[in-house]
Amino acid sequence: MHIVNARLRTAPGLHSIFCQNGRIHRIIAQSEPLAAQPGTLDASSNLVIPPLVEPHIHLDAVATAGQPEWNRSGTLFEGIERWGQRKATITHQDTKARAHAGIRMLAEHGIQQVRTHVDVTDPTLAALKALLEVRDEARSLIDLQIVAFPQEGIESFEGGRALMERALDMGADVVGGIPHFENTREQGVSSVHFLMDQAERRGLKVDVHCDETDDPHSRFLEVLAEQARVRGMGAMVTASHTTAMGSYDNAYCSKLMRLLKAANLSFVSCPTESIHLQGRFDTFPKRRGVTRVAELDRAGLNVCFGQDSLQDPWYPLGNGNILRILDAGLHICHMMGYDDLRRCLDLVTDHSARALGLGEGYGLVEGRPASFVILEAASDYEAVRTQAKALWSVRNGEVIMQRAPQQVQLLPGR
Ligand code: FE2
Repeated sequence: MHIVNARLRTAPGLHSIFCQNGRIHRIIAQSEPLAAQPGTLDASSNLVIPPLVEPHIHLDAVATAGQPEWNRSGTLFEGIERWGQRKATITHQDTKARAHAGIRMLAEHGIQQVRTHVDVTDPTLAALKALLEVRDEARSLIDLQIVAFPQEGIESFEGGRALMERALDMGADVVGGIPHFENTREQGVSSVHFLMDQAERRGLKVDVHCDETDDPHSRFLEVLAEQARVRGMGAMVTASHTTAMGSYDNAYCSKLMRLLKAANLSFVSCPTESIHLQGRFDTFPKRRGVTRVAELDRAGLNVCFGQDSLQDPWYPLGNGNILRILDAGLHICHMMGYDDLRRCLDLVTDHSARALGLGEGYGLVEGRPASFVILEAASDYEAVRTQAKALWSVRNGEVIMQRAPQQVQLLPGR
C-alpha cells in the first residue's frame, strides 16, 4: 500500500507513506501534491495520524441503559445498582453481541486500540468469558486489552479476591480496582496493595478506577501512586477518573503532585461521563467533577481522554466517537487555549497509547505497523473545530473502514 498527499502532525508539508508486509516501510516528504495513481490511496492533504485509541470503556455494559430501569438520579451509585439488576440477566451471547456492536461503533470512528474494563464481581465470571472470546474474534478490527474490574469491590464483595485471581488466571490482561467503593478506608488501601501484588507477581499492567467521587477525603490515588513508586511500576499503572482531585484543596494537591511525578503513572479522564455523574450532591455552585487534566498535563504527567460508556446505566448517550469526548473534554477542562488546541489530538492518540503501554506497536514511524487513520482535517485545531470524522482506517496495511466525506450544498434564494 502507498499513501500520497498525507499531512502529518510531526512535520510540515505533504508526505508519501510506503507500506510493505503490513508495516510502514518509508515516509518521504513530497515537494508538491501528487496525482493519485491506481492502487494508491490519496489522503488529499488531510491529516494522517496513528489510530485513535479508546483507553477506558466498559464493553460488557454497552447498550444496557434502561434495562430493567433507568438511572433516575444520574449518580454513579445508582448506576452500580441498576447494573447489578441487569447483571442478573446476562447471557454469554447477549454480552458478546453487545460488545461486538460497541466495537463496531469504535472502529467506525477510527479506533483500533481499546482497553475495556469487565466486571468480575460475578461468581460465574460470565462477562469475562464472553469478552475473552470477543478479544480474539474482533482482532481484525481492534486490539483489545481486558481489565479485570471488581465493580462491587475486592474486599467488600464476597469472594472478591478469589474472583480477581480467577479472572487473571483466565487471561485478563490488566489488573483493576475500585478502592473508593470499598466499605472502609482500610479496605480501600488493602485492595490497592492486593491488586499491585497481583500485577507485580504476574507482570501485568494496572488500571484502577480511583477516587471516582466528589468526596475530597477519597485519597486512594496517593496509595496507588506510592505503590507504583516503591515498586518501580509507574509505566505500568494507570489511574482512571481521579475525579476527587477536582475537589482536593490546593495545599494537599500540590503535595500530591510531587508524588505523582515521582511515581510517573498515567491518567485517564472520561470528561463527559464525569460531568454527568459527579456534582450530583451539590446544589450551587456545582463542581465539574472532573480530575485536574490541564494541571496533570502541565506537570508533564501522561493524561488522556476516554469514553467510559456507550448507552449503559451510568451514561445514556455515546456513539463511539472519541473526538466528541475530546471536544467536550477541552471545554470542561479549560483547555481551549491555542497551545492546547494545536496539539489536542495527543489526548486521544499518543498519550492514550502510552497509558496502554503500546510502545513500538504504535505510531507513524518507519518499521512500525502500517496502521493509521485519515481524518477529514488539516490540523488538530481544525479536527476539533469541525468535529472531523475519520475517512479511512488502515490496519496492518489493510483498509478496514472507509467513510464518504459529507456533501453539503447551500441553496440560496429558495
Ligand atoms: Fe469506568
